[in-house]
Amino acid sequence: MRSSRRMAMTVTLLLVTLAGWTVGSSLYVADGRSPRLALEKSLSWPPKDTPCQNMLKRLHNGARVTVQMPPNIEGHWVSTSCEVRPGPEFITRLYHFQHNHTFQAHQFYYADNHCTVPTYTLVIQGRVHMRQASWVIRGGTEADYHIHRIQVVCHSSGMAKELSRRMAQSCEETKSASLEPNKSYELCSEEGSCNCTRDMNFTMHELQLLRVEKQYVNRNMEQPVEELFLGDLDTEPHRRMSHRPSSYQPPLQNVKSHEQNCIACRIISRSDEFHPPILPPRAELAVDLHGQWVSQRCEVRPDALFLTRHFFFHDNNNTWEGHYYHYSDPICKHPTFSIFARGRYSHGVHSTKVMGGTEFVFKVTHMRVVPMDPATTSLLNIFDGNECGAQGSWQIGVEQDVTQTNGCVALGIQLPHTEYELFRMEQNSHGRYVLYNGQRPSDGSSPNRPDKRATSYQTPLVQCSANSQKSEITKKSMVWE
Ligand SMILES: *[C@@H]1O[C@H](CO)[C@@H](O)[C@H](O)[C@H]1NC(C)=O
Ligand SMILES: *[C@@H]1O[C@H](CO)[C@@H](O)[C@H](O)[C@H]1NC(C)=O
Ligand SMILES: *[C@@H]1O[C@H](CO)[C@@H](O)[C@H](O)[C@H]1NC(C)=O
Ligand SMILES: *[C@@H]1O[C@H](CO)[C@@H](O)[C@H](O)[C@H]1NC(C)=O
Ligand SMILES: *[C@@H]1O[C@H](CO)[C@@H](O)[C@H](O)[C@H]1NC(C)=O
Repeated sequence: MRSSRRMAMTVTLLLVTLAGWTVGSSLYVADGRSPRLALEKSLSWPPKDTPCQNMLKRLHNGARVTVQMPPNIEGHWVSTSCEVRPGPEFITRLYHFQHNHTFQAHQFYYADNHCTVPTYTLVIQGRVHMRQASWVIRGGTEADYHIHRIQVVCHSSGMAKELSRRMAQSCEETKSASLEPNKSYELCSEEGSCNCTRDMNFTMHELQLLRVEKQYVNRNMEQPVEELFLGDLDTEPHRRMSHRPSSYQPPLQNVKSHEQNCIACRIISRSDEFHPPILPPRAELAVDLHGQWVSQRCEVRPDALFLTRHFFFHDNNNTWEGHYYHYSDPICKHPTFSIFARGRYSHGVHSTKVMGGTEFVFKVTHMRVVPMDPATTSLLNIFDGNECGAQGSWQIGVEQDVTQTNGCVALGIQLPHTEYELFRMEQNSHGRYVLYNGQRPSDGSSPNRPDKRATSYQTPLVQCSANSQKSEITKKSMVWE
């Protein structure tokens, strides 16, 4: 369901060399006047788009996002919901960046997937310095950080015992006595070393990759929602220390401009280590995949893949279709290729590892590919043998079925393909259903074994139609054509 790391690297290289990839401190202001849009406007067919296609089109035109380069991260930033980190860990964050480059980060940890039972809180203080625009992740900025101090406060005696045990090996503070709840302990200070957090594999590497976006929701040009994206964590908890971010975690929102109906934002912004945020309890929604789902933003995958997605799930016969639109830029304006895949999926089973998660098995049996730019077209044409459609026959904008060649070697996709998936469903603050599926392994591999199943999630999709059929209008006009 995803092109491999190798593909990402190859395409990136080709783009750099062939397409004159410009990385710089430019401000991407979407103007909605691309030639492609003009062309689409002049066509009268299809007569009417489906709501799903309309939502994707808005994303493709990048109409409502600006990216600040270099980013100004000053201020208070909060999580917009209970976040799930690989492990899993359930966490909310409140980060404060001061104008003198110092920061204070509150990380609130929980026992449950709705963040209603706080277990402990870390307060991390240090400095962060912007370096340069990232060469790897276009639109991102690289930074260095230094930790001055880490404090911990436990919120239950059970957690206090557990943390004392975890830190016992290397930490003088906890050797003699165990921690007590509701008291602050120094785990790391400028004078001493950071022994106490070593066994927890704690890092703030998320500060090594930053991005600030302004979202002009509801055409409110005066008060855009500001979002801060920080670097991702490795999907393997034991590799966290050595991981360099190559995509992002869910964005934090600026306290001054968060979305009005973000209840979690309000609760988190008023919290501290002695009064951790307790989010309102929510009913656990059973995952019901049926219908159509689309991306809500231009998504970033590790290794500079930008994409939007559109899925159809038919629960009458357990089949699915996915459309993956890939781009070379972080606001999804410049298409590189698209993939259409379909196959079957299993019934969902509750996850015993990830609270609130549901496990599925997905099979990909059919695939079509459309190269959308010269770089990808020549990449596909370079490959010898019939390993990705008919050799040397690729043309820009012309779709080929690669099912007969068992997928596409150039894109690192072999058919048939099986993936072990994790899903969860929620209702967002507008009452719409959103669907999370599992984070892809950070090493670029595919979750093709049960033990590689994700323990955290990707950027959520939103339900754009409860009907899994392509719209009546589109069907009729196809017949008419
Ligand atoms: C940086 O600013 C914060 C708040 O304005 C202040 O508390 C802190 O002492 C300053 N740190 C340094 C190193 O100047
Ligand atoms: C950290 O470890 C070193 C050597 O193991 C020890 O000398 C030092 O006291 C420890 N510091 C703390 C704060 O535990
Ligand atoms: C924890 O301590 C803070 C102040 O230090 C206090 O306001 C709070 O009520 C205490 N909570 C519990 C559960 O004792
Ligand atoms: C920390 O990382 C090491 C390997 O680097 C691993 O063996 C250990 O299990 C990890 N600890 C935790 C708590 O994840
Ligand atoms: C499964 O059901 C959907 C919706 O009814 C239909 O469009 C699709 O062709 C079916 N697929 C198969 C393989 O039967």
